Amino acid sequence: MSLIEQAAKRLEELRRAGAEVGEGTPEAAQLATRSEEPERIPTPEAALRELNARRSLAGTSTRTEARLEPIARPALAPAVRHAPVVVELDLELLKAQGLVTPDVPRSQIADEFRVIKRPIVRNAFGRAGTRVANGNLVMVTSALPGEGKTFTAINLALSIAMELDTTVLLVDGDVAHPDFAKRLGTRNSPGLLELLTRDDLEVGDVLVRTNIDNLSIIPAGVLHHRATELLASEQMAILLRELATRYPDRMIVFDSPPLLATTEARVLATHMGQIVMVVAADDTRQRDVELALSMIENCGVVLMVLNKADKTDVGAYYGYYGDEPRSA
Ligand SMILES: Nc1ncnc2c1ncn2[C@@H]1O[C@H](COP(=O)(O)OP(=O)(O)O)[C@@H](O)[C@H]1O
Ligand SMILES: [Mg+2]
Repeated sequence: MSLIEQAAKRLEELRRAGAEVGEGTPEAAQLATRSEEPERIPTPEAALRELNARRSLAGTSTRTEARLEPIARPALAPAVRHAPVVVELDLELLKAQGLVTPDVPRSQIADEFRVIKRPIVRNAFGRAGTRVANGNLVMVTSALPGEGKTFTAINLALSIAMELDTTVLLVDGDVAHPDFAKRLGTRNSPGLLELLTRDDLEVGDVLVRTNIDNLSIIPAGVLHHRATELLASEQMAILLRELATRYPDRMIVFDSPPLLATTEARVLATHMGQIVMVVAADDTRQRDVELALSMIENCGVVLMVLNKADKTDVGAYYGYYGDEPRSA
């Protein structure tokens, strides 16, 4: 059975179990049309072995499962609590990058994300039968860098915040390559890394409110030598539980590292209720998509977004680029 057939089977199982998996949306089908040679599906262990083998072939050091020693937290004086920081997001800066903005509610990109967010929101807050456990924790990931995780995470968060009576917390979890400061014009610290390493900080101390009602941000923080490892730490698991349960009607969207680049992204995924897997059409090899999917096969709901697709190939919903030249 090809990976796509497996994915379709899994979607069907989820559907039967009551989860919303974007009925009628073409994610899996689009990929199916692109798969040329059916390949076996690796188990996560086999996938990891293969990835490690590939890394050692490439001469890079292989990191095994994150085994973390307790993180020494500096003894600091209690932080002085300040009024929440509020940043004014520059809508022109957002628009220039193709991001959704509240002043253009009917753009093509806004329409595309309306479709993408619908099943995600329904899974998080739907009636009892459709509610997914921890469904308000949504991780946006991909196999490789540059596939559009940050673009998708920001657009998804903006789209949900703008149109629904739902608050959204957008977290920069790609701590080794944080991008929010550049994309959104926001500061980068203190943020997630400080929350994970300092006892004296609470979520409210790093959370940044924005001029877009309902949208708050947690930046990545200052690069720490164990930044990526921290994502797989017990502190992170505790923080995620806190974020998910403190305001159960709040959606939390995580930008995250690519699955094939770090083992921590895979651990992070296990805590999430929903995973949005971004695949750059044409650019990503089928094998890499398969490997990445095999790493999250035990995670709740996985939705695929085919990004940077040519309109003529996959229809308007996924034709973000249209006829424009690709920027990456
Ligand atoms: N659908 C899209 N339309 C236009 N630009 C895009 C799209 N997806 C990604 N990009 C651009 O491609 C580049 C890489 O995307 P990015 O979101 O940073 O990838 P990642 O976070 O996965 O590394 C960025 O310059 C981003 O703005
Ligand atoms: Mg990114």
